[in-house]
Amino acid sequence: ETKPRIPVIWLHGLECTCCSESFIRSAHPLASDIILSMISLDYQDLIMAAAGHQAEAILEETREKYKGRYLLAVEGNAPLEQDGMSCIVAGRPFVEQLHEMAADAQAVVAWGTCASWGCVQAAHPNPTRATPVHQVIRDKPVIKVPGCPPIAEVMTGVLTYMLTFERLPPLDRQGRPLMFYGQRIHDKCYRRPHFDAGQFVEAWDDEGARRGYCLYKMGCKGPTTYNACSTVGWNTGVSFPIQSGHGCIGCSENAFWDQSGFYQQ
Ligand code: SF4
Ligand code: SF4
Ligand code: F3S
Repeated sequence: ETKPRIPVIWLHGLECTCCSESFIRSAHPLASDIILSMISLDYQDLIMAAAGHQAEAILEETREKYKGRYLLAVEGNAPLEQDGMSCIVAGRPFVEQLHEMAADAQAVVAWGTCASWGCVQAAHPNPTRATPVHQVIRDKPVIKVPGCPPIAEVMTGVLTYMLTFERLPPLDRQGRPLMFYGQRIHDKCYRRPHFDAGQFVEAWDDEGARRGYCLYKMGCKGPTTYNACSTVGWNTGVSFPIQSGHGCIGCSENAFWDQSGFYQQ
């Protein structure tokens, strides 16, 4: 309560905006508490009141005022093909804005699988050469918070940690916060006893499905997916994909569209 709020600039590259949609639904802490008491969200072109030239002026002003101190949050990635023409922000390729804003940031947070790994727009054959943030910005720490989208409380939890302890959270070797990405969905899945007992769903809506058996044979990627869904849950912990009857599709993993994804076993 006594600490100054962390200045945050939040950019949007190639993305679908659902990482922002997820963030504003955080319940613990409330997104409103984060925005009003913990961070100073000076630029976020989805939810800010300003638009056009006014918004651009705020971005420049924030960069000058908090040089070297602000956190750069990035939702989406940068397409590099054709000099970045597939994503234009304020009349310029997004990749230019990303380089400029990262130059004066203390650290970069890559929100979601788009920013962390590339996601659907980087799927083969990746026509726009969509490129994740850590491959564009190489001289700053980049904290990956993957998921499509990431869990709201994971996003706000990462910010809370940084404000509370005044340091970056401990990361795994791929740059993800260990506290949320240190375990696989499979490690804490409530259907795990069925996996261990060899009880599997063999077809949608079979007897095993009705009994809540393990979804591994239906393509569940929980055994290879690092995320907090089976512990933190979604919608304030109400449920998560497996609890809703569908296997994990590995949305927080690298190249999930090409290497894991939908209905491939
Ligand atoms: Fe949307 Fe998923 Fe990309 Fe987030 S990671 S912007 S939810 S496509
Ligand atoms: Fe593992 Fe998926 Fe089975 Fe859960 S449903 S125990 S995550 S394979
Ligand atoms: Fe994504 Fe799997 Fe969680 S699909 S939302 S990581 S259960």
